[in-house]
Parts: sequence; structure tokens; C-alpha cells
Amino acid sequence: MTTAFATTIFPSAPKVHEADLPTWRLLPAIMNSSLSIWPNFAFDILVNKRTTLGVTSILVNDPEGVRHFLISNSANYRRPPSIRRVAVPLGGSGLFMAEGAEWRRQRKLMAPTFTPSSISVLVPHFQEAARHLLQGVEGKPRVNLSRAFQDTALEAVLRALFSMPDHQAREQLSSLVRSYVEGAGRPGLFDGFATSEESFGFVLGKRKRFQAKWFAAIAGIIARRKAEPKLAGHHDLLDLLVELKDAETGEILSDNEIRDQSATMIFAGSETTARLMFWATYLLALDKDEQRRLHDEIAAFPPDRVETLDDLANWPRLRNVLLEALRLYPPLPHIVRQANGPDTISGMSVADNDQIWASAWVMHRHRKFWQNPTAFMPDRFAGKSAPWVQMPAYVPFGVGPRICIGLHFALSEAQIVLAHLLTRYQISQVGTRPVMPVGRVTVEPDHEPLFRLDRI
Ligand code: HEM
Repeated sequence: MTTAFATTIFPSAPKVHEADLPTWRLLPAIMNSSLSIWPNFAFDILVNKRTTLGVTSILVNDPEGVRHFLISNSANYRRPPSIRRVAVPLGGSGLFMAEGAEWRRQRKLMAPTFTPSSISVLVPHFQEAARHLLQGVEGKPRVNLSRAFQDTALEAVLRALFSMPDHQAREQLSSLVRSYVEGAGRPGLFDGFATSEESFGFVLGKRKRFQAKWFAAIAGIIARRKAEPKLAGHHDLLDLLVELKDAETGEILSDNEIRDQSATMIFAGSETTARLMFWATYLLALDKDEQRRLHDEIAAFPPDRVETLDDLANWPRLRNVLLEALRLYPPLPHIVRQANGPDTISGMSVADNDQIWASAWVMHRHRKFWQNPTAFMPDRFAGKSAPWVQMPAYVPFGVGPRICIGLHFALSEAQIVLAHLLTRYQISQVGTRPVMPVGRVTVEPDHEPLFRLDRI
């Protein structure tokens, strides 16, 4: 018991406050990090309501309550303007932003593109992105893996979408998105208090200008790809999007719809997966024993042998590490909805326009649902084939009909990329400064640590 405790890793997390923060402290704290605002009791209770400057937020930890507002009564809830204001410039009217009947139409059309068998077709793209990462780090004594994973995740999604190996075009998209996420696209107080997508119009000009450039760049790539002769034996998501046909009406996607769905996949799929790979690597650098076990597991089935998603079953430990990284550092830390009308969730009354939060950050560290919630214990996922279904408090990909459509994409990409790194290197952090998670759009590291890669 003592030995097990002595070797258990408790990775870094921001301070939990004794009590709810007063408004004057809450507002600056939330601007800095949405992970640094939580009082101790949030990790014990099932539901809690708070009104700040006229905005009522209800935190729902109760998995039944979460299922109520995201599944059984989801028609009463929509994405709030704060999220739409930031995400529409990135994804237009693609799947992430669509609501109601339009969302149902898009989801039905897109679903076959993201099944495990469709994702299997993308394995060569993930392999290429991983090999490119290896080339990039080769011979470097110290590597900024946070940056490297961002480049790799973007490369993986662009290869999967457009078979796009062109480094320069990727760089252009990458710097566009980065400047948006770190600048005009960073949610601010005006977004938090906006009652509509158009409120506080003076903050929206830069976002509109970004959208014009971003959409033009993606439309240009699609036009060029469509004009090129199709290579035999080459598969990507663009081929599938172009061929999609509504089963009832026979309608195909317009050019603008293909652009918006592609833009959505790039923004929803790259930063999130990059964060997953980063936090999993950070945890493995803290837990050398687990890293050693992974080296052995991967040596028994080297990544070059992976051809389909079924092959990934050879690495159960690696998968559990990724699932545990998603629990401790969920890349999208909160799911937020706004009520269209009155309701009751887990006994708490909901009024028009109340904001309802299902926070993966809080639920994943909740003392009622997890043993040793703040410890890194990948084995808690052993034997759980779909924990997002089997473990009701595990919500890294969301819940219900709007659960992340790209979850197989993300997990298989992360497994392949990390397996390539781990097959070649032992990974350690340079120095001992803990890396603190910061909640912005995704859960970011507070600084970009350097890692030492020692050839095995
Ligand atoms: C580790 C990586 C990822 C995480 C943690 C993640 C997380 C999530 C979460 C929590 C949601 C639900 C949001 C809500 O209900 O408000 C979501 C939705 C979505 N994700 Fe992911 N995601 C990841 C990777 C991806 C990838 C790789 C893609 C595509 C290539 C993708 C595409 C989408 C889309 C299109 C939606 C909206 C689905 C809908 O509303 O029907 N995601 N994701």
C-alpha cells in the first residue's frame, strides 16, 4: 500500500479555492484560466447555481443531469453566443455550429465518413505525419514537443482531408489559425456577457476579417485538389465529402458546405489532438515506469506494422494512457449550453437563457465518481472498450448525439504518433518546473517545456 502510494503520480493542477470566488476575483480569474475558478465543494456536489452580474450559470456534475440536457431534453438547449462568436469564424455553418434540423441533416451525412472503417483508410496519413515528426526531432538534444505536436496534428488533419503534403501551404494555414487563436479569437469578457452573436460589434471586425482570409485559403486548397487528377489508391476525406449524397433528396454538398466542413475538421481536430498528445507525453515523462512498460508493449508490435485501426488493439496500455490523459487534462475542458426555456436539471430549476455547464475538468476530478481522482492511474481504463459510454462521468468527447464525431480519428492518430516517438526515444522533461494546465479554448500548458529525447 505504502509502496503503491509512493510511486503514484499526482500531476500538476491549479489551486482549488476554499469557497466560491467573489465576483471581483472571479472575472479576472476566468479571463486567465477557466480551470482556476473552482471552489473545493464543486468536486463533491452534483449541481450548483451561481449568478454573476446577471448571468446565471448552472454547473451540472450529475451524469443523469448531463444526460438530461445533452440527450433527453437537448432540444431546449443551444450553443451560447459566447461560443458561436469565437467558433463561427473558424467553422462557418459546418457541423460544430449547426443546430436543429440542419444539424441532424449534416450529422447523418457526415457520420459514415468517421466510422472506424473509414478512419482506417486514413492510417497512411497518420503514419506519414508521425514519420515527419521523427525527421523534425532527429538529432535535436532538446525539443519543444508542444509546438511539434501542434504541427503534427495540423499536418495529420490536412493530409487526411486533402492528402496535403505541401509544407508551405500548411505553414500558411497554421500561422493563420495560430494568430486567430492567440489574438482575435481569444474569448474575452465581452463574449461572456454578449446576449447575441452581434452584441459588442466592435470586437467582431477582426474576427470577420480573419474568416474572409481563412475561408479563401481553404477554398483555394479545395479548388486546387479538385483540379488535380486523382491518384490511384489514394484516399482522403475530401474524396468522401465530394461523394456524399443525401439518401432522401439525392443532394450533394455545395462548394461552400465542403469548405465549411473542412474548416470545421481543421479547427475541431488539430488543436484538440495536439493537446492530447502533449499531456500524455508530459504524464509519461513524469511516470518513467509506465513509459518503460509502453516501450515494451510497442516493441512487440512496432508502429510500422499498423495498417488498420484493428492493429491498434496491440497497444492496450498506450490507449489507457491516452484515456487517462484525456481524463486529467481534457482538451476541451467544458461543454456549455444556453437554455431556450424553463426546465429542471437534477432538481435545480432552469430559467430562459441560463448557461448550463458540464465541465469535463470538474467531472473528471470529482470525488464521488473516481478513486484517487487527481492521480495518474491509466489502469482504471483497463477493459473499458468505450469508456465514454461505460463510465458516465467520463466526458472528454461530450455526451449524446453531439458527441465528438472525430473521436476515433483523434485516438488513432495519437496512438500512431506517440508509438513512433516511443519506439525510438525515451522521453524526459528538461528541468523540473511543473507544467500547469491553463483553460482557454483548449487546456494549454502554462509554458512550453523542453523535452530530452534519448535514442533507445
Ligand atoms: C482529443 C481530441 C478531441 C477532443 C478532446 C474533442 C472533443 C470534442 C467535444 C467535447 C465535442 C462536443 C462539444 C459539445 O458538445 O459542445 C466535440 C465535438 C466535435 N468534434 Fe471533437 N474532439 C477531438 C478531436 C476531433 C477531431 C480529430 C475531429 C475531426 C477531425 C473533431 C470534430 C468534431 C466535430 C465536427 C464536433 C461537433 C459534432 C457535432 O456537434 O455533431 N474532433 N469534440
